[in-house]
Amino acid sequence: MLEPVFSVTWQSPANIALIKYWGKKTFQLPANPSISLTLSKCISTTSVTVYPLPENNGPQIEFYYDNQKHEAFQQRVKNYIEFLATEEMTFLKSYYLVIHSSNNFPHSAGISSSASFMSSLALCLCTVEQELHNQEYYDFFQRASYIARLGSGSAARSVYGGYVNWGYTSMLLHSSDEYATPIGKKRIHETFFQYADTILVIDSSQKPISSSEGHRLMSQNPFSSARYKIAHEHHHDLLQCLLCADEENFIKIIEQEALMLHAMLMTSHPWNILLKPNSIEVIQRIKQFRTENNIPVGFTIDAGPNIHLIYHKRYSEPINRFIQNELIQFCENKKIIEDEVGNGPDRIN
Ligand code: DP6
Repeated sequence: MLEPVFSVTWQSPANIALIKYWGKKTFQLPANPSISLTLSKCISTTSVTVYPLPENNGPQIEFYYDNQKHEAFQQRVKNYIEFLATEEMTFLKSYYLVIHSSNNFPHSAGISSSASFMSSLALCLCTVEQELHNQEYYDFFQRASYIARLGSGSAARSVYGGYVNWGYTSMLLHSSDEYATPIGKKRIHETFFQYADTILVIDSSQKPISSSEGHRLMSQNPFSSARYKIAHEHHHDLLQCLLCADEENFIKIIEQEALMLHAMLMTSHPWNILLKPNSIEVIQRIKQFRTENNIPVGFTIDAGPNIHLIYHKRYSEPINRFIQNELIQFCENKKIIEDEVGNGPDRIN
């Protein structure tokens, strides 16, 4: 019977992209820089317990989701850890790893859990590397972001709280395609730290296309170069809005980004329409509410049908009324998730 030599647990949040990563240069390197807002309440908790293998014939993996064996996840995690063991983290070859993970947001909420899960797993693996193999890091979180990116690009951004950049840009010192970096508080007006994201769950069924496949289709999309050019412009302009508290243009840009992501999905071959009739109804009503009430509330959308309502908490009252009176009827089982800007991952003892 093997004895464990180390165990570690991290909690890591989901994030929602404001400037979208959609399309890759090459393996896990983004075609354009992206910016996300780290959430606070939608969290994955992952623990890794390591057992030494006498023969160095690892890595071997046992994966549990919600304390149950999960074949599909197990295969994805196995491929990822085997890939890391070949070059990045060769020490993994000498271990049997037992991994437990769970999400505090319902699996059926239609929220991508790959960013929160992959970032929590990467943080655990980097802790093993640091504490069991005495690896000195220049920056632990930078290493974790780099390792997370190799599993899922958007996961690179969940390693930090607040507003996060991933992808090289001359606008931000230390930015890189290889890992995400937090956008310093000096570059974000304090108003944006009071922002809420209420997720309107329109449809929780599984997406017909994976993100990885969607990224791949961008290489043949006839509009991809225009998209990357505009993504760079939006990225530049959003940084300006974040600095100057320009809430009106902030909303304009994030909505254009969301709709452009879906335009790319629709104009790829094969095409995919991920928005549902209720998604469209909701975004029309958001636009109308904004115009009639002069309240800067906007939306963003992931590669799915659910709508993220983005607004400053000083408008919580009228916006909650708006959600209850007008929007909730379009949500699946009237499901909404109330989240906000969060502080990033935590290590659990
Ligand atoms: C629409 O990070 O899931 O959410 O790197 O292939 O795992 P892989 O893709 P993934 O793509 C996320 C796409 C997006 C936009 C974003 O989060 O920036």
